Amino acid sequence: MTDIAIIVLAAGKGTRMKSAMPKVLHRAAGRSLLGHVLHAARQLSPAQSVVVVGPGMEAVAAEARSVFPDARAALQEERLGTGHAVLMAKPALAGFTGTILILYGDVPLITPESLAQLARLADQSGIAVLGFQAQDPHGYGRLLRDAEGRVAAIREELDASSEEKSVTLCNSGIIAASSDLLWPLLERVGNANAKGEYYLTDVVALAAAAGSPAALAICPEAELAGVNDRIQLSGIESSLQGIYRRRHMLAGATLTAPETVFFSADTVIGQDVVIGPHVVFGAGVRVEDGAEIHAFCHLEGAHVGAGARIGPYARLRPGAEIGSGAHIGNFVEVKKATIGAGAKANHLSYIGDARVGPGTNIGAGTITCNYDGYDKHLTDIGANVFVGSNTALVAPVKVGDGASIAAGTVVTRNVPADALAIARPSLELQQGWAARFRNMKAARKAARHKQ
Ligand code: UD1
Ligand code: MG
Repeated sequence: MTDIAIIVLAAGKGTRMKSAMPKVLHRAAGRSLLGHVLHAARQLSPAQSVVVVGPGMEAVAAEARSVFPDARAALQEERLGTGHAVLMAKPALAGFTGTILILYGDVPLITPESLAQLARLADQSGIAVLGFQAQDPHGYGRLLRDAEGRVAAIREELDASSEEKSVTLCNSGIIAASSDLLWPLLERVGNANAKGEYYLTDVVALAAAAGSPAALAICPEAELAGVNDRIQLSGIESSLQGIYRRRHMLAGATLTAPETVFFSADTVIGQDVVIGPHVVFGAGVRVEDGAEIHAFCHLEGAHVGAGARIGPYARLRPGAEIGSGAHIGNFVEVKKATIGAGAKANHLSYIGDARVGPGTNIGAGTITCNYDGYDKHLTDIGANVFVGSNTALVAPVKVGDGASIAAGTVVTRNVPADALAIARPSLELQQGWAARFRNMKAARKAARHKQ
């Protein structure tokens, strides 16, 4: 197959989003709409990529480069139509020969399979159109076919006759064509239509007239859901969550209440992982085989080792590296910390900027005091350490292998291996004090009531 270049149209501001941010940067499942489109296209290994942006949309170009580091941005100063937008990308693709795949930045559910089918057909026929059977064709361009079933023209709603409007086979907007065919035809597209725009779709009739009618690829309408407002954005989120839940279950994870679990597009889940109800995976989480994530956990930028047990009610923040078989229990927050294999922090702790060695037990209420108001400091705890409840570790501080820290200790100096660290006022006991106190109080109360 010939080389592929992609052009993503993203000049639309998305006024109905009511946002200071360009529409295609809004996120679903932790990834921008543009990011979803580019990740789908990445499966085709495009040689070049161009994103067409409007004025002041440098952030869109930067987002494109986060997926394709050498993505180019082309500026469309004025919105003169989809054909005009594609022409803006031509200088960036100077010298490229092959198949050009034109995508919309606000159609994030498109699958790599549909794009691959379209690119293959374009490779064979010179030009191919991705169509769909519309439930309600209103507003879409209609695909008009010749006797052989190839697409001879695309008619926009506003320019269509009533007979053409009865066609339910519609244009997705996604088109692929060979560079040799596309550029010369696009130069010939005019704007004598109801909208006064340069329509990319007019290229199809010009190609047919030149003896190259377009091949037709079909995809489900669901893949073509676009985003114009935040209600549609939430619809995309919910579609993606449905896709990811099914994908992870089919790959061998148990989700006891799938409808309450939220994944990011990049979440990686191993086999025989069990995920309880109400778990949220932010970006950048990897969970190894056999781990259990109990109810009400929030994970982001974290790696959970094989067979580890997380939660219920745990929070893993970026840089949390949980070793195999380790336990992180309720109301434990871990940030930028490595927890060794088999180590346990089961209750009410904050472990941040730390290393916890294998086999170490972190008692309830342990806090790493990692921040002095200006800088973060490291707490380094060795292997098989016993950290008693309610310990405060004032970083930077080191605790050697096998050491014990008594409950309630504020650790302000390094603790050598196998040592005991204990810092607490001595305990005073007064025999019978509590009984005497109760009797005295009760007698006074009784005297008051008699008066
Ligand atoms: C377009 C198609 C129509 C198809 C429909 C599918 C044309 C002429 N029509 O119509 O056949 O059924 O999409 O949704 O192509 N854009 C730019 N610059 C522009 C104009 C558009 O970047 O000057 C971008 C938009 O941001 C959007 C996409 O191109 O992502 C489609 O533009 P839109 O105005 O929504 O086209 P439709 O009229 O819906
Ligand atoms: Mg549209």
